[in-house]
Amino acid sequence: MLPKVMTIFGTRPEAIKMAPLVKALQASPHLQAVTCVTAQHREMLDQVLDLFAITPDYDLDIMRQRQSLNGTLRRALAGLEEVFEQENPDLVLVHGDTLTTFAGALAAFYRKTAVGHVEAGLRTFDKYLPYPEEINRRLTGVLTDLHFAPTSVARDHLLAEGVSPESIFVTGNTVIDALRTTVQDDYTFTCPQLRQLDPALRTIVVTLHRRENWGEPIAAACRAIKRLLQEVPDAQAVFPVHLNPVVRETVVASLGEQERVLLIEPLIATDYHNLLARSYLVLSDSGGVQEEAPSLGKPVLVVRTVTERPEAVAAGTVRLVGIDETDIYNAAFNLLTDQAAYQAMAQAKNPYGDGHASERIVKAIEYHFGLNSTRPEDYV
Ligand code: UD1
Ligand code: UDP
Repeated sequence: MLPKVMTIFGTRPEAIKMAPLVKALQASPHLQAVTCVTAQHREMLDQVLDLFAITPDYDLDIMRQRQSLNGTLRRALAGLEEVFEQENPDLVLVHGDTLTTFAGALAAFYRKTAVGHVEAGLRTFDKYLPYPEEINRRLTGVLTDLHFAPTSVARDHLLAEGVSPESIFVTGNTVIDALRTTVQDDYTFTCPQLRQLDPALRTIVVTLHRRENWGEPIAAACRAIKRLLQEVPDAQAVFPVHLNPVVRETVVASLGEQERVLLIEPLIATDYHNLLARSYLVLSDSGGVQEEAPSLGKPVLVVRTVTERPEAVAAGTVRLVGIDETDIYNAAFNLLTDQAAYQAMAQAKNPYGDGHASERIVKAIEYHFGLNSTRPEDYV
């Protein structure tokens, strides 16, 4: 019997980052791959499953409109208990810091099933920033047997917490594996509104959704965008709005009727990645985009006060601008009007991986099961 490895994910970013790994696990002759989605997100998850042609073996379909943290966690745990009962996996793989991540790790631990954590070791050391993700990933780390840290910074956080070096593998981030397959010079957008964008205008790509930014911080960022477009006539904003109704209400109320602002539905990842590649700059509170845009040479202004992804800040391509309207406006205005400031940030830097993270993770899992005698080299 081959060791059975069950991959669990539920939201859009987990799906994008787990898709390359699911493919790599399925390609391994030494492992049996099973895929379970909680569907903490429904439409935004299905977009990714369709794009990467992944048909999950289990779909818990737990999403509710305006779901609460406890309710989501409860539905995920209940569904996973049944799936584990049926499949009895040898190893469970979770990703990142969502409710699905923590639920997968906890439900596996209660069965004494080994847990592998992909994108392990990210920390802000602030309990409420981001909320509740910082605590979700710390709790998941406690339950984890195999830590797949994307960078040496993440590995060092784990070591400082007393995690055994033997159980940590530095792999790079699987998002770079995904990005290598999606960005193409001759790409044609599937979204008709993107095909109609005025090429003479410089595009600011915007996404906002974090719980700690609900309400005033998102409203402040929207006001900053309005002011920017008044001052900079050759700029436009493209804003794929998260399906969360709490986010939509604020964004549509503020930017719904604005000239040179395109509010659109969430894009499929290929459209979004190629939009990033053709953009001028990015304004976002997303985690994933802080990893994607730097490798495309696009400056990212992060609408947050702290980040668990310091590597691109250190490399100079990501800047934390906070949640104050004037600070956001000033930072973006500066990049739109000062070429030297723009060039200083628009350097293609990629501290997050070489596109082979999934292969390293599969090798590490094979090594864990004694199917491979050499430990994979860490990504440096
Ligand atoms: C969750 C994750 C967050 C991640 C984000 C990615 C947690 C605690 N948070 O955010 O870490 O950055 O996903 O986007 O796990 N909705 C839909 N259709 C969808 C997706 C969402 O209608 O396909 C709506 C639903 O009303 C849902 C709401 O959005 O209740 C919020 O979804 P949820 O997964 O709870 O979002 P967050 O916790 O904000
Ligand atoms: N993304 C996408 N379509 C969009 C906006 C974002 O496919 O319209 C992708 C993006 O490339 C990144 C991921 O979604 O890989 C980020 O998801 P999100 O911002 O929802 O979550 P976070 O990364 O903050 O957890």
